[in-house]
Amino acid sequence: MSGSSATRICELRDSASLCEWREKLPGSARVGFVPTMGALHEGHGSLVAEALKKCDFVLVSIFVNPLQFDEIHDLEAYPRTETEDCQLLQTWGAHGVYLPTASDMYPEGDIQQEQAGPVGEILEGAFRHGHFSGMLTVVRRLFERVKPQEAFFGQKDAQQLFLVRAMSERLKMGIEVQSCSTVRESDGLAMSSRNRRLLPGDREKAGTIFQALTAAQKAVLLGEGNPSVLEEGICSALFQGGLEVEYAKVVAEKTFLAPDPDSEVRAVVAVRIGDIRLIDNMLLGVLP
Ligand code: PAJ
Repeated sequence: MSGSSATRICELRDSASLCEWREKLPGSARVGFVPTMGALHEGHGSLVAEALKKCDFVLVSIFVNPLQFDEIHDLEAYPRTETEDCQLLQTWGAHGVYLPTASDMYPEGDIQQEQAGPVGEILEGAFRHGHFSGMLTVVRRLFERVKPQEAFFGQKDAQQLFLVRAMSERLKMGIEVQSCSTVRESDGLAMSSRNRRLLPGDREKAGTIFQALTAAQKAVLLGEGNPSVLEEGICSALFQGGLEVEYAKVVAEKTFLAPDPDSEVRAVVAVRIGDIRLIDNMLLGVLP
């Protein structure tokens, strides 16, 4: 993941400079877009690397979107590391970074929010009220300003990826939404900006999430086809690892709803360790 250190990354601090940057690019250029909330890690780096492979110019946005936080404490505690982030993006070879303020992103007082639909109300949506509506609102606005040909999202947030794809298709935005694999630590913990807030003992416990998901994947390979049995197995593995489970569900990959027999399924989980919430998921395969 080494970038062109010769050219400096363009720091775009408002929508006017973003617009100017975008208009200067050649009409034939393919623009890849990676939306983030900063506190960048190798997971974000892998999206930038994927975008650089497929596109001529790569723009990353960093904006901690207040609309998608339902807990003020979580919003305030979200790590903000702008200087380090810009240095990383420079090393990774991104061409531009858009760092809007809240008033640049939402100049109007009364924000018309995007509807997330039924899939927006379950799993993450059931535990984080209004989260997906707020997330889609900012992603739509970013898509309209950046006008990319392709946008890159991580499977780490599989429900988010599902909803962004659905919105982009519904609004016929003409943007290819690419799905990128989850980057993990050596014990399998999915990289996340929230991991840096884990205390050492809790960090060790968090490794159980990956173990529980891989055990479910193995169970499907060995012939287990009952979603409830798989869910119970995941829950008890997480519980034995000392984690508080918010949900552990097996959903159909195509719909994010309850799976039919023979459908490809994904296990999705959310746990709490102290006041930190972690989510993860894994494709389990086709139910036997
Ligand atoms: P953020 O949590 O910063 O994530 C930005 C992108 O990085 C998302 O597409 C996410 O799925 C991806 N990502 C995070 N951890 C990853 C990992 N370990 N491996 C691979 N990709 C990973 O998701 C958001 O921000 C926001 O909701 C956003 C889309 C920017 C809208 O505000």
